[in-house]
Amino acid sequence: MIDLPDYRPRIPTSPARVGLVGAGAIARSAHLPAYAAWGIPVVAVASRTAESARALAADFGIGTVHTSVADLMADPSVQVVDIATGPTGRLELIEAAVRAGKHVLAQKPLSVDGSELPRLRQVLELARDRGLRVAVNQNARWAPAWRLATLLVRDGTIGEVVGVTHLHDKPLPPLAGTPFDDVPHMLLADYLVHWIDITRCWLEGSSAERVSAFDSRVPGQPDSARNPWHAGVEISTSSGASGSVRIVGDARTRSGGCPFWIHGTAGTLRGSVLLGSDFLELDHDGARAPFALQGQWFTDGFAGAMGELLSAIAEEREPENAADHVLASVRLGLAAVASAEAGGAPVHPSDLVLTSATRRAAAA
Ligand SMILES: NC(=O)c1ccc[n+]([C@@H]2O[C@H](COP(=O)([O-])OP(=O)(O)OC[C@H]3O[C@@H](n4cnc5c(N)ncnc54)[C@H](O)[C@@H]3O)[C@@H](O)[C@H]2O)c1
Repeated sequence: MIDLPDYRPRIPTSPARVGLVGAGAIARSAHLPAYAAWGIPVVAVASRTAESARALAADFGIGTVHTSVADLMADPSVQVVDIATGPTGRLELIEAAVRAGKHVLAQKPLSVDGSELPRLRQVLELARDRGLRVAVNQNARWAPAWRLATLLVRDGTIGEVVGVTHLHDKPLPPLAGTPFDDVPHMLLADYLVHWIDITRCWLEGSSAERVSAFDSRVPGQPDSARNPWHAGVEISTSSGASGSVRIVGDARTRSGGCPFWIHGTAGTLRGSVLLGSDFLELDHDGARAPFALQGQWFTDGFAGAMGELLSAIAEEREPENAADHVLASVRLGLAAVASAEAGGAPVHPSDLVLTSATRRAAAA
């Protein structure tokens, strides 16, 4: 019988106070509902337009609306800046928060432009010097089935990980006509960030040596949808263990989910996330044992990511989702995009010289 590790979000008893930047879709649908449910205090909000910030503040009982991001950064009641904007300008917001003496939780993807990573590293160095924590909102790490799987992998329950496999058996979110459809290789660069990140977490201990990625338009895809709807990523590591992520397209199914398998030398973890499909079972010693899971990725995962940062601040340690840790996943994502640009040719993340010009050259 396995002792069930504590996979639920952890919130410290006196959490630091949060100021939210970006009053958009994900803040309204996930950040704030999760924080309300788990008792995380949000004291101020600012966004590009004051009206959207005011509407959010009214709906979620946030006491202060700042008319500029600079005012929120200068607000002494804000201890943690929660950045819920898109990737453009995110590095500048992280830097401004650190210079203002605030801890940071930045939405994913941490970066989609390799040329900004040297500056990001400087900002992280500055944060370290000032005793500030910069974490990334890799909320899927706290999706209940993925979090419990992570803890069981860490405990060695299935021995050494041999392979990680993910399949998308669900429709894509609406992309056509949204700004996300303007991002080149959007599925690889943005949408799959969570799947690439968790795969890398489960393969931790071996280093990713080679990434191959493909994307293509699929039968039935309308012309108005600019990005390819099929995407696949293959990751090979130094130990020979591998990872695989596959989106077939906009799957037509009423009861789908995102099944995954973690095969190890001593057992298998099998599960699924999203659309209410959530489950995890351990296949070990000739028996299959399902776990009774509580919660859902949306929105408990968001409490998990913020809770980990708040706990790290309270305990004066680095959070698991520290930007420094997430950087290795960012490199895998950049390698996936470079590989897709090169028609699926393998890219070695360690060879990536992270400037826009050399990325283009590597991909040519
Ligand atoms: N599971 C997840 O973690 C998840 C899910 C969906 C979206 N996201 C990510 O969240 C981010 C935001 O997505 P969204 O759908 O909420 O976008 P959105 O466009 O609906 O919201 C972004 C908000 O930020 C504001 N904003 C942008 N730049 C700003 C700036 N410099 N200063 C102040 N306000 C600014 C915009 O005005 C807007 O209100 C994206 O990076 C996306 O990838 C994450």
